[in-house]
Amino acid sequence: MAKTKTTYFCQNCGAQATKWIGKCPACNEWNTYVEEVVEKSSKSDKTDWRDSSNTHKASKPIRLSEVQASQTERYITSDQELNRVLGGGIVAGSLVLIGGEPGIGKSTLLLQVALSLQDAKVLYVSGEESEQQIKMRADRLGLKNYHCYILSETSTKKIFQQIKNLEPHVLVVDSIQTLQSEYVESTPGSISQIRECTGQLQQFAKETNTPVFIIGHINKDGHIAGPKVLEHIVDTVLQFEGDQHYSYRILRTIKNRFGSASELGIYEMQSKGLRQVSNPSEILLSQKEEQLSGIAVAATLEGARPILIETQALVTPAVYGTPQRSSTGFDLRRLNMLLAVLEKRGGFKFGVKDVFLNIAGGIKVDDPAIDLAVVCALLSSYEDTNISSQYCFSAEVGLSGEVRAINRIEQRISEASKLGFDKIFISKYNLKGLDRSKFEIEIVALSKVEELYQRLF
Ligand code: TYD
Ligand code: MG
Repeated sequence: MAKTKTTYFCQNCGAQATKWIGKCPACNEWNTYVEEVVEKSSKSDKTDWRDSSNTHKASKPIRLSEVQASQTERYITSDQELNRVLGGGIVAGSLVLIGGEPGIGKSTLLLQVALSLQDAKVLYVSGEESEQQIKMRADRLGLKNYHCYILSETSTKKIFQQIKNLEPHVLVVDSIQTLQSEYVESTPGSISQIRECTGQLQQFAKETNTPVFIIGHINKDGHIAGPKVLEHIVDTVLQFEGDQHYSYRILRTIKNRFGSASELGIYEMQSKGLRQVSNPSEILLSQKEEQLSGIAVAATLEGARPILIETQALVTPAVYGTPQRSSTGFDLRRLNMLLAVLEKRGGFKFGVKDVFLNIAGGIKVDDPAIDLAVVCALLSSYEDTNISSQYCFSAEVGLSGEVRAINRIEQRISEASKLGFDKIFISKYNLKGLDRSKFEIEIVALSKVEELYQRLF
């Protein structure tokens, strides 16, 4: 009997080794190596896609200047958020990977896209759900598309046979971890299977100029399971994220060969599927009549999009010896740093207080421009005095209490102005080259956090 060939693969980064090793030399993770059987077939250059295709073209080098500069063909979907995230619609022949935690709404999003592409023939391949389950979901979404086909199948060979018959214009695969190619013997979801199946889908996409969407599960540290490998093969990587307890979902570009990699789409999960949120600021700001302490509005930028977000702080006397610090949607270490700055520069006794911080809407913010709003929310709760709901803030705060300049200040100011705020607090250093007369909103420039106190209360 022929000896089966096996290789050890790191399940985290996809590195290979001939024997088992405890620590992956490539990604430094421990206990990630798993033995996988590779290469069942002797004809290793054959794949399921090639098997069923006769469109195999021999490629030869051609001069770049002779390549027809065809307009990149794009399918514009009715989903504005997705169009933007993809850099202006679905590019023909592109391979798009969508990652996200279980239950976040990946299948819902793509089924919705499949059903809304009215003029294109779409094939939705699901290895996770039966036809009935997909039908139920489609009914729930309340969408109908005569040209949308579904296929519940996991074998790539059978899938490609069906594709050959149907010749879809767009292909959706849910999920890559369930696919299985005959040419690799390891189990579905293993590195070698994922790599093989994605490779085949890529060949299919490029040779037939069909856009392919792949859903990928993510592992517990938030990376797409296994495949760093995958991220190299595909053209675009999107991450679908959000807090399970909130209904907002963010579709973020991680990599995009056809557009900006810092775009962002926002959705709200409703009982009838995902709704596009075209003006996020209006939802993330609560329209309260009465003024409460501990609330400040930050003018932040998510990707290239200005968003105004409410930051909420609660400062109470610490009951136990060690004060509690808790933060949702904002880096806890950064919160501790800002508290230390306030303690040292402003003489506020946060050391004897419990501090809780929350960013409204369950959104995570990395933009440093939120610092100033966090500081204001903290001060407001500390003093138990409200900040006018007509003020908003946009600046970074440094270790010595200096208020620092941030990028794209004009965009932030005009968003705040558009939403009807009276005053925006920014760094003095952002004033350079800024034409104040362009904006209706009053601009207050600060250089130190100490000045904030007099300006606010
Ligand atoms: P799903 O798309 O199955 O998630 P994933 O494919 O990422 O695992 O989303 C499932 C969740 O979305 C589930 O908890 C129910 C919820 N949901 C709605 O709230 N409204 C809807 O219309 C649909 C279809 C799902
Ligand atoms: Mg799913």
